[in-house]
Amino acid sequence: MGNLGELGELVKKLTEVHSPSGREQEIASVILKELEGHIDGYRIDKLGNLIVWKTGTSDKKVLLDAHMDEIGVVVTNIDDKGFLKIERVGGVSPYTIFEKRLCFGNVIGIVGIEGETAEESQNNIQKMSLEKLFVDIGAKNREEAEKLCPIGTFGTFDSYFHKQGDFMISKSMDDRIGCAIIIETLKRIKNPKNTVYGVFAIQEEVGLIGAQTAGYDINPDVAIALDVTAVGDTPKGMKRIPMALGKGVCIKVKDTMSISNRYIVDKLRNIAEKHNIQYQMEVLTFGGTDAAGYQATKAGIPSATISIPTRYIHTPNEMVCESDVEATIQLTLKYCEEGLE
Ligand code: CO
Ligand code: ZN
Repeated sequence: MGNLGELGELVKKLTEVHSPSGREQEIASVILKELEGHIDGYRIDKLGNLIVWKTGTSDKKVLLDAHMDEIGVVVTNIDDKGFLKIERVGGVSPYTIFEKRLCFGNVIGIVGIEGETAEESQNNIQKMSLEKLFVDIGAKNREEAEKLCPIGTFGTFDSYFHKQGDFMISKSMDDRIGCAIIIETLKRIKNPKNTVYGVFAIQEEVGLIGAQTAGYDINPDVAIALDVTAVGDTPKGMKRIPMALGKGVCIKVKDTMSISNRYIVDKLRNIAEKHNIQYQMEVLTFGGTDAAGYQATKAGIPSATISIPTRYIHTPNEMVCESDVEATIQLTLKYCEEGLE
């Protein structure tokens, strides 16, 4: 370590916090500490959204959003032998967690598959479901397991940050990379024209909960979600999505949950052209972001998404490219500096 660079250190710090949806207190305090001295005020709302701001000279409001929760699991039951059963919190595939470690606070759990015979195990591996998986926390019996990991305990992927050349790999890049981009933008922006709100939203992964309520509360003139997006740049990459790592920030036109406001999209594109920021146009054929939560709040909030191209989304090894992250900070910063009329 030591040569991660300032951005790498920040991303490592954010991604290694274990804060699944509904359990965002820890990540909120880490983000707030990071912003100390760089904001004009903050509040934590009734649901746990962390809302920070930098006051501008006009009465217009620009909202930048990144969700601070991450996907995970929750303990649903414990058997007599002390093995756990789990349910997903957000989009967790059984194929992703099988034979991996899960982190329940200080307790590590190993994910195994049920099967009385080798054949049954093999069949279950081919047609996997959370029903067929169990979690082993090394407990001798139910009582011991109940002490370590009672029903309702939340867990996350057990993974760590690694930087390799220009690539950064970790769990929860979705969406701590968005959080890092807002933190950097707020650190770098000077004398904003509009008041810039940073919303570090709760529970995006279970239904855009924090975005809807924060949008209602702040009622901004524009809301921009910063989040990861999928890419088609692996060996047999999806043919309908050209996004790739190392080719710059993605300006989202549409995903399955929202259509970005066309005027915001045009403005982002113009700014990228003007300042020579490397960018890619994005139409995602699946998924959605907090932008959908803002768009239909109050009397309607013009919304868009700026995305960071990411490989292996919703796995312990989400991979981003540092130069794309820097381009995303640049675009977000220039958009805020230009401001609304
Ligand atoms: Co996600
Ligand atoms: Zn996300």
